[in-house]
Amino acid sequence: MSSKDESTNQAQTRLEQVQGHTNSSNMGSVGTSATHFSEDACPQAAEDPLFGLMAAYRRDTFDKKVDLGIGAYRDNNAKPWVLTVVKKADALIRDDPNLNHEYLPIAGLPEFTLAAQKLILGPDSPAIKEGRAASFQTVSGTGAVHLGALFLAKFSKSQPTVYLSSPTWANHNQIFSNVGVNIKSYPYFDKKTKMLDFDGMLSTIKSAPTGSVILLHPCAHNPTGVDPTKEQWQQIAKVMKEKDLFPFLDCAYQGFATGSLSQDNYAIRHFIEQGFELCVCQSFAKNFGLYGQRAGAFHWVVAPGSDGADAVKRIASQLAILQRSEISNPPAYGARIASKVLNDPELFAQWEDDLRTMSGRIIEMRKALKSELDKLETPGTWDHVTSQIGMFSFTGLSEAQVKQMQEKHHVYMTKNGRISMAGLNTNNVQYFAKAVDDVVRNS
Ligand code: LMR
Repeated sequence: MSSKDESTNQAQTRLEQVQGHTNSSNMGSVGTSATHFSEDACPQAAEDPLFGLMAAYRRDTFDKKVDLGIGAYRDNNAKPWVLTVVKKADALIRDDPNLNHEYLPIAGLPEFTLAAQKLILGPDSPAIKEGRAASFQTVSGTGAVHLGALFLAKFSKSQPTVYLSSPTWANHNQIFSNVGVNIKSYPYFDKKTKMLDFDGMLSTIKSAPTGSVILLHPCAHNPTGVDPTKEQWQQIAKVMKEKDLFPFLDCAYQGFATGSLSQDNYAIRHFIEQGFELCVCQSFAKNFGLYGQRAGAFHWVVAPGSDGADAVKRIASQLAILQRSEISNPPAYGARIASKVLNDPELFAQWEDDLRTMSGRIIEMRKALKSELDKLETPGTWDHVTSQIGMFSFTGLSEAQVKQMQEKHHVYMTKNGRISMAGLNTNNVQYFAKAVDDVVRNS
């Protein structure tokens, strides 16, 4: 690491310490309480595990440290990558003499939400043709999940229960419980095969009470990297239709799993074709590399029916009130970039190339890791490294092994054994494989 990188990291860490921890010397004089919010009412919360991991990685001064924590794409030099197409779109927007920084409408930039809707529901979606879809620009995928959760909490006839996959993206639990939605889980990952526990998943979904909400990851499941096949999606939809369950589809990785936008939204298209009422959360953080720009969308689709257009209008009117009271209107710049690309055929084609670059490099790293582990004859089976898909691999390492990976080898990964494949590259994959080999043999 250069000394410039090091001092930037140190400055960043100091800033996080100041922002994250209140300076207790300023908390008032002895004997009087500085707050009405006692420790009983407002106990000290733990640091967010993922952002805590990111900060720990930054503090580490070891030159071979490896960051496999947060799900953000890195190039072969372990650096963030600004997509070629994003650079182009950004320049066009910046140079536009008509650019201003006015508020967007409450539902966001119309040309963005319409293009985002077409992209995720499919351009020929019956929901679009029949005017049964309403779309809102949100604060990335997290904001979309929050808006959907809030709507369900407020407008469901009885208190809703959401079923989350076990495991799921950790933030799902917080988002739903913060708005008072009950949480249950369905089995998803089979620890033995390190693949989908389809029977367990289906039988729990089958036993969910009618009207329950089932949260599904349409592609590139986070954290496991394990997706149902097309046939399995069809069976899931069939069971959910029979039980009248509500699909809550959270799609943060379209184009990142297979590299093909239209393959990665198969599950969404299938559920719509089956005539469900559902909602879809869409993030442009990963597939555009617009992490900090918070560009995303929330789509509500009502089932086919004579009152479809009126129903969706009514639902959209309430979503608009929720949006206005929470964020007033969404941030503009990231959505402008995505919109520029989505609405221009030439830029769109360039984006598809960029997507293939990212998904292709990840696939290469899966192969490279598997081959290093094979060479080392690391105990266990490692086929899942290449059969899992998308940004993440669920390695199967235990929490104790993950701890050793960090303490002994300076490899940063989440406690559940997840790695962000994008953090591997041709310079560190062998080092990482050796570290895995060591902790597997010596724990
Ligand atoms: C992740 O799971 O690493 C990403 O989705 C980042 C996040 O916000 O958790």
